[in-house]
Amino acid sequence: EQARQIQQTLAEFRLSKTQLLEVKKRMRVEIERGLKKDTHKQATVKMLPTFVRSTPDGTENGDFLALDLGGTNFRVLLVKIRSGKRRSVEMHNKIYAIPIEVMQGTGEELFDHIVHCISDFLDYMGMKSARLPLGFTFSFPCHQTSLDAGILVTWTKGFKATECEGEDVVELLREAIKRKEEFELDVVAIVNDTVGTMMTCAYEEPTCEVGLIAGTGSNACYMEELRNIEIVPGNEGRMCVNMEWGAFGDNGCLDDIRTKYDQAVDENSLNEGKQRYEKMCSGMYLGEIVRQILIDLTKRGFLFRGQISETLKTRGIFETKFLSQIESDRLALLQVRAILQQLGLDSTCDDSIIVKEVCGTVSRRAAQICGAGMAAVVDKIRENRGLDHLDVTVGVDGTLYKLHPHFSRIFLQTVKDLAPKCDVNFLLSEDGSGKGAALITAVGCRQRELDA
Ligand code: BG6
Ligand code: GLC
Repeated sequence: EQARQIQQTLAEFRLSKTQLLEVKKRMRVEIERGLKKDTHKQATVKMLPTFVRSTPDGTENGDFLALDLGGTNFRVLLVKIRSGKRRSVEMHNKIYAIPIEVMQGTGEELFDHIVHCISDFLDYMGMKSARLPLGFTFSFPCHQTSLDAGILVTWTKGFKATECEGEDVVELLREAIKRKEEFELDVVAIVNDTVGTMMTCAYEEPTCEVGLIAGTGSNACYMEELRNIEIVPGNEGRMCVNMEWGAFGDNGCLDDIRTKYDQAVDENSLNEGKQRYEKMCSGMYLGEIVRQILIDLTKRGFLFRGQISETLKTRGIFETKFLSQIESDRLALLQVRAILQQLGLDSTCDDSIIVKEVCGTVSRRAAQICGAGMAAVVDKIRENRGLDHLDVTVGVDGTLYKLHPHFSRIFLQTVKDLAPKCDVNFLLSEDGSGKGAALITAVGCRQRELDA
C-alpha cells in the first residue's frame, strides 16, 4: 500500500509522449507570440534580439577581456584571438566568488565587486594600462537595442540586487569602472550565455546555429530569420534570438503538468510566479523539487521514520552535484546512504531506494520537457528554411548537462522522438561562453571601425 501511494505521487511526474508533444506545441505558440509585434510586449517567452547577425567566420582578431556572470562561477578572462590560416584562441581566466550578500545587495555593491575582480585580474596579468575591449557575458534577460546596450528585464536564478532592473547593465558597469578610477575599458558587447555558448561552438563547427544552457538556469538561443523578428527593422539575413525560455509557463500554459511540489518550489523562490519552466528543468531547482517530495513523503510516514529533520527543511541542500551522485549507476545503495548521511539525513536502506527513485523521476521529467522545448526550436528552424529535413548543431553548456549521469541521454532521446525530421548534433562547449563573448566583441570592434 505504501509503495502504491509513493508510485501514485511520482506518477504525476511521468509524462506521456502525447503530453510532451503538447509541451512542444505550446512552446511553439509562445515563440510566435514573442516574435510578433502585437504580442511581444505581453509574451512570456520574450525572444530577445541580440544584434548578433552571424556566427564567427575566422576573421576575428585581437585581444579581449571577457566577464562571465550568472552561472555557477563568475570569471574574468583574457582571450587572444588570431585570425588567418593558423587561427587560434588563447585564454587565461580566473574564477571569483560572489557572496550571497553581494548577489542580493545593492546594484552598486554588485558592480563595484565586479570591477574589483577585474582590477585584481588585470594586476594578476600585469596589464593594468592596456585599454582593452570587453565582452560581458551576462546570463539574464536583457532588452537590447544594440550590441552594447542591454536593459535588465528581471533578475532570475539566485540574483536579486536592487536598482538594476530596468537599467542598462552596460552603463552600470561603465559607471562602476569610472568610480574605481584605476583603469579604462571599452565595453563593446553584452552577451547572454546561450549566445556565447553558440558562438564558442560555432567557431569550431560552422553548422552550429543554436545554443543551449542546462545549468543553474535553463535557456536557449538560435539564429532566426530577421523578417520574423518583427520588433527589429529589416528583412534580410538572420539574427540570433535569446529566447529566455525559462519563463515559458508564466502565463499558466503549463499548469496542467505542474504539480503541487512545483508550486511549493515556486513559492519558496526569490521570484515567485516567474521562470516556471526553468523551475521544472534546471539545476538550481531540481533538488528543491526533490526536497519538497521528500518532505511530503516523510510527513505521510513513508520516509525517514516520519521525522522531518532540520536538514530536510533547509533550502538548497540538494545541489546538482549531489543529485548526480545519488543517481549514478555505479553507486551502491550503501553509498547513496552515505551521501544522505553527509547531508545530515539518517536513512535506512529502504529510504535510500525511495530517494533514488524520486531523484530519477524528477530529473527524467526535466530532461524530457527540456527536450520538448528544443524539439520546438529545431522544427521552427526547419520550417523557416522550408526544409523537409534539417541537419543542425546545437552548442551546449551547463552543469546539469555535463555532470548529471542521465540528463543528457534522456534529453537527446526526447529531441529525437519529438522532432523526427531533424538530425540534431549536440556539441559540448569546452570553453564556456567567455570565448564566444570575445568573438562577438571582435566583430563589434570591427563594425565600430567601419562605422567611424
Ligand atoms: C558556462 C558559461 O560555461 O556555462 C556560463 O560560461 C554559463 O556563463 C554556464 O552560465 C551555465 O552553467 P552553470 O551550470 O554554471 O549555470
Ligand atoms: C536564466 C537566465 C537566462 C540564462 C539562463 C541560463 O534563465 O534568465 O538569461 O541564459 O538562466 O544561465
